[in-house]
Amino acid sequence: MCGIIGLTCIPGSTPDRPSLMVYRGLLRLEYRGYDSAGVASVSAESSRVVVLKGRGRIAELEGKYGFSKVDGFTIVAHTRWATHGAPIDVNAHPHTDCGTKIAVVHNGIIQNYRELRRELTSRGHIFVSETDTEVVPHLVEELYGKRRDIYSAFKKAVEVLEGSYAIALISVVEPDKIFFARKDSPLIIGLGNGFNFVASDIPAFLEYSRRAVVLRDYEVGYITPVSAFIEDLRESRPVDYTHRVRFIEWSIEDASKGGYAHFMIKEILEQPRALKNTLQGIEGDDGFRKAVDLLLNANRIYVTAAGTSYHAALYYSLLMQRLAGAQVVPFIASEHYSYEGVVSEGDLLIAVSQSGETIDSLVALRAFRERGAKVIALSNVIDSAIPRESHLALYTRAGPEIGVAATKTFTTQALALAWLAVSYALAVGRLTVSEAEGIRGELRSSPRLVSEIMPLIEDRARRLSEWLSARSSAYYLSRGVGLPVAMEGALKLKEIAYVHAEAYPAGESKHGPIALVSSGFPAVFVVPVDNYLEKLLLGNVQEMKARSAVTIGVAPLGTSLEDQLDYLLPVPRAHWALTPLTHTLPLQLIAYYTAVARGFDPDKPRNLAKTVTVE
Ligand code: G6P
Repeated sequence: MCGIIGLTCIPGSTPDRPSLMVYRGLLRLEYRGYDSAGVASVSAESSRVVVLKGRGRIAELEGKYGFSKVDGFTIVAHTRWATHGAPIDVNAHPHTDCGTKIAVVHNGIIQNYRELRRELTSRGHIFVSETDTEVVPHLVEELYGKRRDIYSAFKKAVEVLEGSYAIALISVVEPDKIFFARKDSPLIIGLGNGFNFVASDIPAFLEYSRRAVVLRDYEVGYITPVSAFIEDLRESRPVDYTHRVRFIEWSIEDASKGGYAHFMIKEILEQPRALKNTLQGIEGDDGFRKAVDLLLNANRIYVTAAGTSYHAALYYSLLMQRLAGAQVVPFIASEHYSYEGVVSEGDLLIAVSQSGETIDSLVALRAFRERGAKVIALSNVIDSAIPRESHLALYTRAGPEIGVAATKTFTTQALALAWLAVSYALAVGRLTVSEAEGIRGELRSSPRLVSEIMPLIEDRARRLSEWLSARSSAYYLSRGVGLPVAMEGALKLKEIAYVHAEAYPAGESKHGPIALVSSGFPAVFVVPVDNYLEKLLLGNVQEMKARSAVTIGVAPLGTSLEDQLDYLLPVPRAHWALTPLTHTLPLQLIAYYTAVARGFDPDKPRNLAKTVTVE
């Protein structure tokens, strides 16, 4: 998705050249996915805003335009991921008004842009792009013509917009300010000394500022180099944000590659630490106890999410069924409307989202709240929209995840949800104290267990990936709690290595999918530590072998399937409930190595974005 970074500073007060600080921020936004980028700047002497932009990678555009050398002390920049209008130079942000006195960067979608564009065109405004965003500078230009006050013109313009937006605007009229507005798309202020940032993402300014204010929907305002002003558009009153200033604990190393070839491999290997930090968070936070109370008082329980987070949600529902005998309805967030008819007061929704900003999950949450349901959020980003709009927020502590494909956030979500399920099962008497403590003890040892996997499988995973990189399709099969893990493995291979992969319950093979299997077809089995499932899976492995498929197993050391499998990726033995913790890393690694072997950049998968803020 698109990214925004803006900086305004007192000349001479910044640690680096202002345009270089913005450029570095822009590079840190790359991971969100983009097709074009641009920069706009003003200074006290400017009579026009300077805009440099185009289609392509940031490094190429830097070579062409010198983003990092642009003059000025108030600068906004953007990475664009095309929604309205093709990814061509003219559609890249920033966009300007007719007089080139205003420049705007925008994330989100302005739904009423057609009407606005028609109206503004009829008043003589000339549009040069196909984007929805371009209406904003023209609208502000129009309103400024009447009011002669740029902030009030900006506010008035924002009031007219429908849809979702994070906007940053600069103007020659007040060249030391960046005006901003937020609705349904993240925007954060980063505070410095003699300079301030506004950005769509914390890592964009983390190198220079660790004090942040996460903006809320309907907040508008501006930053100057020494202050920030925020007001609530609906109430037209200034907001006292001093108690909302947060110190960001993530280090800049967390948000840098630190010598690794890609963020994805770094984040795969960071899992033991991410799990350890998440465990500390769980044990030191009484949110989990409060969550159990909410669960105990709920009529029906639902769990929703998108993408990888949905696999964690599905795992949670299977765990609640098996450990606690409780029914939890899992659904994909964008399918929320199918469930709304049955939701009523007393129901509970758990919304799982690493970013806390996925619009599909946010819309589902709002729909459930409107019908009286309580909501618990599980997110990796403090103060993001989903936790903020929930009755109770729980957090994973995976640190920033930069690779577009989720890795460490999935295993930390699984850990937090397993903890919640065990606590609930104990509270309803389905687990005894010693059984619950047994599983919790294993969850506590998950950082160690996960750290043991890499040495066991690294070479094998690499060799297997060489072979997989020449295949065009694969099945990922499992049963029970292994199924969401198989789904996650298939998604990873598909999204970063562009090899078609499908996951389904292993017992379904005979009902259709096996028709595709012929000699050399890859069938990856996720084998939980469970005698019953292991026996069932043995039959499925044999079924595949009988069709000359190549059978690959992610299975505990000493599995009885060993003789049957063509290829084994061994994992440590642990309680079956820990399957996503013990079995996911090999699948992430296979996807990573396969992507690399096929010559693709695993951090920037085509057509995908890290945080999807459009429905
Ligand atoms: C995007 C990302 C996925 C992610 C999904 C949900 O599609 O590319 O990797 O799993 O959004 O994101 P969330 O932040 O809500 O977990």
